[in-house]
Amino acid sequence: MKQVVIDAFNAQIAKERDASVVYESLSFWCAASDYPGFAEFFAKQAAEERTHAEKLAKHMLDRGARPVLGALAAPPSQFDSLTDIAKAALAHEESNTRGVVETLEAAKAAGDYAACNLLAWFVNEQVEEEVWANRMVVLVGRATCAGSLYAVDRHIVADLTGKKD
Ligand code: FEO
Repeated sequence: MKQVVIDAFNAQIAKERDASVVYESLSFWCAASDYPGFAEFFAKQAAEERTHAEKLAKHMLDRGARPVLGALAAPPSQFDSLTDIAKAALAHEESNTRGVVETLEAAKAAGDYAACNLLAWFVNEQVEEEVWANRMVVLVGRATCAGSLYAVDRHIVADLTGKKD
């Protein structure tokens, strides 16, 4: 792999690991605030982001390049409401999408078709990720009382993942 693509992959690995830690923090806030459904969803999401970082790292290792990890910033931990949480998640996914596109552009400019193929999976994945994040913002925005927030929390995992609850 060309160094410019290696650098782009390392930058995207950092973003995926950052997303994992941010979602872990959102999960803890939700658990501490008695929203077990949101806590479960974000815990699952944190694990998924970690697998995204691993997928990029495996591609590098398969091609003889060594992933290099850097320090992660402390994630945000203070939120006023589930609305804040949902907006933070959406902002994070939009930022991750930009990272994926930048990585793909670097691979494309370098003529690295193997990396482009891998990154096509990430482009599709980000479409899915923005779908759930946007839907979460809508659902939380519609819940205007404690009872409706309870109902959203109870069904959020099923709603966003398509699994039955
Ligand atoms: Fe791995 Fe949510 O992006």
